[in-house]
Amino acid sequence: MSARLAVVISGRGRNLEALIAATRDGRIAADLTAVISNRDDAPGLFCARAAGIPVLIVPHTAYRQRHEFETALAVALREQRPDIVTLAGFMRILGGALVAEFEGRMLNIHPSLLPRHRGLDTHRRVLAAGDAEHGATVHFVTPQLDGGPAVIQGRFSVEAHDDAETLAERVLNRVELKIYPQAVAWLARGELRLEDGIVWRRDTPLRQPLSLQDLEPEFR
Ligand code: GRF
Repeated sequence: MSARLAVVISGRGRNLEALIAATRDGRIAADLTAVISNRDDAPGLFCARAAGIPVLIVPHTAYRQRHEFETALAVALREQRPDIVTLAGFMRILGGALVAEFEGRMLNIHPSLLPRHRGLDTHRRVLAAGDAEHGATVHFVTPQLDGGPAVIQGRFSVEAHDDAETLAERVLNRVELKIYPQAVAWLARGELRLEDGIVWRRDTPLRQPLSLQDLEPEFR
């Protein structure tokens, strides 16, 4: 019985595209049952519809209070009976109740080497800080914004000629589109779990996030 996967987006959906491809070619043992977006104009919705995946819109603008939006999102997610929820370019902050309900089943991808550069505008901040390296992190979602236990990180050297655009492109193409499908594949196979704030890969607690070197061949 394949795992049930729901993907939550707000924007372009490049990570969604990669997750659709990996569920369709069997690298992720899951059925992608729905794409949920808080924006009805998210370009990623075209990709979902083209793939024949049901789309649900939960517009955050329709709710006066953030908790009302979260309740509506939780209802939409619950209806999917998901084994895994992936936030993929989702740009709203989720509060404790929804996160607690899905803790251990909800992953996010963030374009920085967490815990450095939580929040927005990471590529520009990396340049401003003069960081030697940059990358992305897949982590379990916990109530701390961009702060959940990391599963896998991909990193590369920042070059002298880099600007925010070149970094964003390299983070996405050299890191995100590889590490996110891999992490979801491990979770779908039951090879990852979150226990008391510690990420376990099979029967080993991770002392540090996995890396690009841990990618299985079909995700490289
Ligand atoms: C990506 O950098 C992702 O890490 C961040 O949003 C950006 C766009 O993601 N969360 P996508 O193209 O919408 O998947």
